[in-house]
Amino acid sequence: MSQIRKVVIPVAGLGTRFLPATKAVPKEMLPVVDTPAIQYVVEEAVAAGLTDVLMITGRNKGAIEDHFDDVAELTAALEAKGDADRIARVRRSTELADVHFVRQGAPLGLGHAVGRAREHVGGEAFAVQLGDDLIDSANPLLPDMIATQEHLGGSVIALMEVPREQISLYGSAVVEPADPVPGTTFPVHRVTGLVEKPAPEEAPSTLAAIGRYVLHPAVFDVLDRTAPGHGGEIQLTDALATLAGMPASEGGGVHGVVFSGKRYDTGDRLDYLKAVVQLALERPDLGPPLREWLAEHLAE
Ligand code: UTP
Repeated sequence: MSQIRKVVIPVAGLGTRFLPATKAVPKEMLPVVDTPAIQYVVEEAVAAGLTDVLMITGRNKGAIEDHFDDVAELTAALEAKGDADRIARVRRSTELADVHFVRQGAPLGLGHAVGRAREHVGGEAFAVQLGDDLIDSANPLLPDMIATQEHLGGSVIALMEVPREQISLYGSAVVEPADPVPGTTFPVHRVTGLVEKPAPEEAPSTLAAIGRYVLHPAVFDVLDRTAPGHGGEIQLTDALATLAGMPASEGGGVHGVVFSGKRYDTGDRLDYLKAVVQLALERPDLGPPLREWLAEHLAE
């Protein structure tokens, strides 16, 4: 059994790519079919044994706290109607995990947001999930990442092959071969360098860092001395590049697990639409009629 129980989910970003929807509604609360994106992320964490959740929030993110809280008047109204199915759906998010919240203060970057988790996390390795990044539950990624961290120590990031013209949206990794980790499915590389959002022609590889991490607590001291980088923000990628060059005796070393399943950035409008269609097609009640309508619509 894994020892890692804590996961940090930064949700304090401004979500400017999805304006005007995100003017008053956090992007993590946008529904994917009938469930907010953030609930899928927490479901993924819980399935990987991560039941202590810390969200790093900001202004305008109150709806996320409400979603994971109990709503007595709603359950009372459903009870009066005898609607057990909807009661279960409403309670699911409340009972999923032990969810805590810390304010980021100012949105100074993903690295700064993760740094705010220091007190809650303490001296143990912990996971990080980006609250707008959906990973298809058919190919669980976090269990492989946790097993890799426990086997090799240091920190572990998730990598994915992307077309070269898209690498400027991500951190790009420099990697070396590594031995497979027993009991895991996805390939593992040793990461020797990382560059945040490089121009396509300057990217060291087309292996992009996606929104899942399992970090050694040494990351907190590194983040404290990480200067603002790309976009004037304190970048987690820059701290990971520092950790990649540090000795294991100081908590350094970074490995990358190369994910090859489906993944959606719900903060991006096209990816969001793809996530909604894909997950709706998988639902037994909505899938068949949606598939029929899509086929007719595309044929027109
Ligand atoms: P994004 O790059 O998606 O930025 O952040 P964003 O501000 O949320 O969205 P856009 O680009 O303006 O549309 C990646 C992750 O880091 C979190 C975000 O909430 C998201 O999960 N983040 C980013 C913070 O928590 N704090 C920050 O200061 C920046």
